[in-house]
Amino acid sequence: MDPSKTPTATRSLPGVAYTDPVLYEQELKDVFERAWILVGHVSELSEPGQYVTANVGREPVVVVRGHDGELRAMSNVCRHRASLILEGTGQTRSVMRCPYHAWTYELDGRLAAAPSGQGFACLDRDQVALPQFRVGIAGGLVFCCTDPDQMSLEDMLGPVAPYLDWLNIGGLTVHRNDGAARWTEDFEENWKILADNYLEDYHVPVAHPALVRIVEVKGTIGDNNDWCEWSRAPYRTRPSRDPREREYQSLIRRMPGMPEEFEGWMGHVCIWPTTFMEIYPHHVDTWQLEPTGLFSTRATTMTLVHPDEDAQARRARALMRELNVDIMGEDVDITTRVQRGVQAPSYHSGILNDEQEFSVIRFQRRLRELLPRITELEATATGASSVASS
Ligand code: FES
Ligand code: FE
Repeated sequence: MDPSKTPTATRSLPGVAYTDPVLYEQELKDVFERAWILVGHVSELSEPGQYVTANVGREPVVVVRGHDGELRAMSNVCRHRASLILEGTGQTRSVMRCPYHAWTYELDGRLAAAPSGQGFACLDRDQVALPQFRVGIAGGLVFCCTDPDQMSLEDMLGPVAPYLDWLNIGGLTVHRNDGAARWTEDFEENWKILADNYLEDYHVPVAHPALVRIVEVKGTIGDNNDWCEWSRAPYRTRPSRDPREREYQSLIRRMPGMPEEFEGWMGHVCIWPTTFMEIYPHHVDTWQLEPTGLFSTRATTMTLVHPDEDAQARRARALMRELNVDIMGEDVDITTRVQRGVQAPSYHSGILNDEQEFSVIRFQRRLRELLPRITELEATATGASSVASS
């Protein structure tokens, strides 16, 4: 069968979509700066002055609990000479203080004070404030959106928010690893290669032998809308032949607050565009991908645990972390190959499996709708291909 004759919907993005600098700029603007981006968990923002920082596309943002109890999202860029104001997560004092020249901002974003203010002939303090953005909470997760016209967080999440509520994700707390509430890792691939890979389990039996010894991928059930999905797969009951995996299997137990019906399952969530969650019975990992360049992507992990996590859950989490390091290594091996492959002049695009790569098809359909540049690149690639084959 001539691959160029298959419907566009079942073909992957053209290879050039992973290498085109013009498309990359449009993705920041039309995907990330219009999306609801995960920034933290409610347990980090319960007290006035508590804050989390993140990037929404090119916009550094801070979400902070005000003295009036309101949660607000705003730019984390100082209006003086553009230094970032806060870093990481934590608790600020009564105001937010820029580390460069010590301008301070109220927790609602208004300028509080500017040292040596008499030297600013044109400074109208009442006119200076950090631009405000939208903040939303679903299932205990806190999101920020910089686009005032984007659909509501609830509409975007569809069936995912009730699933997170059902699992009591909001009742968990952020685990601090050596004092850090986030764990970051940098990859040398275009962000879409990592997202595509995360969205499908077609590769799992091939690339992740340990994972399939633990989880029955074929037993997966789930639900989705056009943007997001949840799924869960049953743990295998047969003991693995690997001692570490067997120990892990012996420790799997639901956290308090998780429903009985989740007994024996591992959950998975994908939220447009690049929030992924692994929901284990003993803890939850969120994984947020952020493009940091055409060929560089940062993954930020947040681990959620029960506030009274016991030794058994802690050990299960530690073993799963070890397994995940191996699994991540396997994925890095694959995605590095793909990054190299999409740059080959002989490669245009591939055919996607309607069932096992369904989520990739849906994800790439959304990208095509938001980014007309992809269709232009496809037309150019197809034209070049037909010239080459004529
Ligand atoms: Fe913030 Fe100067 S850049 S005070
Ligand atoms: Fe994988």
